Amino acid sequence: MFRLFSVSLVALAAVSAVQRVCGQGSGTNASTLSAVVTAQDEYTTLTHPSFRRHQVRVKKTDFCDPTVNVYTGYLDVDDGAKHMFFYFFESRRDPDKDDVMMWINGGPGCSSATGLLMELGPCNIDMKNVSANGTVWNPYSWNNEANIFFLDQPVGVGYSYADYGESVETTEDAAKNVHAFISIFFETFKEFAGRPLHLSGESYGGRYLPAFASYIYDQNQLAKAKGLSTINMKSVLIGNGITDVSTIYDGRYEIECGTAALEVPFQKISTCVQMKIALRRCNAAMYNGCIDQLDEINCRAAVNFCDSFLSTGYWESGRNVYDVSKMCLGNSLCYLENSAIASFLDRHDVRKLLGAESPGNFTSCSPEVGMRFLARLDKWAVPSQHYVAGLLERSIRMLIYAGTYDWQCNWVANKLWVDKLEWTGKDAYDIAGWRDWLVDGHKAGETKAAGPLTFATVREAGHMVPHDKPAESFAMVSRWLAGEDF
Ligand SMILES: *[C@@H]1O[C@H](CO)[C@@H](O)[C@H](O)[C@H]1NC(C)=O
Ligand SMILES: *[C@@H]1O[C@H](CO)[C@@H](O)[C@H](O)[C@H]1NC(C)=O
Ligand SMILES: *[C@@H]1O[C@H](CO)[C@@H](O)[C@H](O)[C@H]1NC(C)=O
Ligand SMILES: *[C@@H]1O[C@H](CO)[C@@H](O)[C@H](O)[C@H]1NC(C)=O
Repeated sequence: MFRLFSVSLVALAAVSAVQRVCGQGSGTNASTLSAVVTAQDEYTTLTHPSFRRHQVRVKKTDFCDPTVNVYTGYLDVDDGAKHMFFYFFESRRDPDKDDVMMWINGGPGCSSATGLLMELGPCNIDMKNVSANGTVWNPYSWNNEANIFFLDQPVGVGYSYADYGESVETTEDAAKNVHAFISIFFETFKEFAGRPLHLSGESYGGRYLPAFASYIYDQNQLAKAKGLSTINMKSVLIGNGITDVSTIYDGRYEIECGTAALEVPFQKISTCVQMKIALRRCNAAMYNGCIDQLDEINCRAAVNFCDSFLSTGYWESGRNVYDVSKMCLGNSLCYLENSAIASFLDRHDVRKLLGAESPGNFTSCSPEVGMRFLARLDKWAVPSQHYVAGLLERSIRMLIYAGTYDWQCNWVANKLWVDKLEWTGKDAYDIAGWRDWLVDGHKAGETKAAGPLTFATVREAGHMVPHDKPAESFAMVSRWLAGEDF
C-alpha cells in the first residue's frame, strides 16, 4: 500500500520537475538544485535525456546537519528496477567552490549509514541519550570542507533495494551502477558538475574503489571521444582496505603476535607458535588456490584453512576484530553503535524524514549481499592492486591510510602490498623516507609518499579511523583535499 501510494506521488511530481530541469529557457535559477527541489514531504523526480534508463528522485531534508542544504533520494537505475539510496550534504565551508566526495562502506553488503552516523558524517548516533533528535553534532565531519554524498550500494544494501530481486554479485558489476549514479548525480546537482571528485571508503572499499575509479576513468575516455561530459575524478581514499589478498594473514600475525599494534603482544605464545607454523602453509595454499591461479575449490579450501588456523584464535580472545585495544561488544560487528543506528534508521519518523522506501527493516550489513559476493569469490577474483597501479600511472592520486589497531584489514597488510605494488613510481616510493605526521603538535601517525601515492598510518585508531580519531582523520582529509603534505 505504502509503496503504491508513493509511486503515484512521484509520478505527479515528475511532470513539473522534468519540465523545469530539462525544458527550454527556464532561467538561471532552475540550474541550481536548491531552486528546483524545495519539497520536503515528497520526492521531486528528475530525468535526463542522456540517461534514459535512469531517473533521480530527490528531496530536501532537515536530517543531521541544520547548517547546510541536505538532500536524500533514490537513483532508479536500469529501467527503474534498482533503487540506490543516497544522502547528500553540502559543504559547511563553501559549497559553491569545495570539492565533491563520495563515501562508501564495505562488507560487501554494509550500509554507508555506518560511515555517516558513527564515523565521518555531519552527525553521529547519540549513544548517551542527550539529544532529542537521536543524533549529535560532529565538529570533525568531512563535510567541513567538502560536499559529500553517502551511497548505499550495491542494491540490497541499507535503504537501497530492487523491485524484482535483481542483484549485483561482483565488484565489477557494481562499478556500472556506481558510475551511472555519479554521472546522474552531476547532471542532477548541476552546480557541482565538473567539480573535482574524490572517492572514499573503507574496508571492502579497498576492493570496490580501485575498480570503481578505473571504470569511471575508462568511461571518461569513451565519453570524451564522443564529446560528452566527463567526471572530474581526482583521487581515491581508502581506509583499512582489503585490496591485495596476499598479505592479509601476514599482517594479522604481526598485529596479534608481534608489536605492530600493541607494545606487548596479547595473544598466547602457544597460539602464536601454531599461527606461525600455519602461516607458511596458509600462504602457499592461498597462492596456489587464489592468487597464482584462481581455482574455486582450492581457493575456498585455502581460505577455510587460513581462517581456521589464523583467525579462530583472535575471535576466541573476545577482542574487537576492528580494534585490538577493545573488546568485541554487541554482535559480530563489535560496536554497540551498530544496533543503535539500525534502531534509529528503522524509526518511522526517521524513514519519513529521509524518504526511505526499502521494504523490511534496516540492516547495517546485508547477509544476502555478502553471501552473493562470496559465492562469486569476489574478494579473490580480481587482484585489485592492479587497478591501483593503473590509476597511479594515469595520475589519479591515491591515499591508502590505516588505523594501527585494526586486526581485520590491518595496516601491516596494507603496507606490505603497497610496498610491493608494481608501478613506475615504485623506485621513488621505495627510497622515500617515512616521517611522522602531526596534528596540533602531536604525532598522528606515519606517512610516506611518492608522486600520486601516499600511505599513512593513523596511530591508535581501529578499522573505523574517523570514529576513533575524528580530529586526526579530518586533518588528514583536509590536507589531502588541499594537496598538501601531511
Ligand atoms: C532567481 O532568484 C532570484 C532570488 O531568489 C529572484 O529574484 C529571481 O527572480 C529569480 N529568477 C528567475 C528567472 O526565476
Ligand atoms: C532518553 O531521554 C528521554 C528524555 O530525557 C527519556 O524520556 C527516555 O526514557 C530516555 N531513554 C533512554 C533509553 O534512556
Ligand atoms: C540534533 O540535536 C543536537 C543537539 O542535541 C543538535 O546539535 C543538532 O543540530 C540537531 N540536529 C538537527 C538536524 O536538528
Ligand atoms: C522490523 O523490526 C521490528 C522491531 O524490531 C519487528 O517487530 C519487525 O518484525 C521487523 N520487520 C521485519 C520485516 O523484519
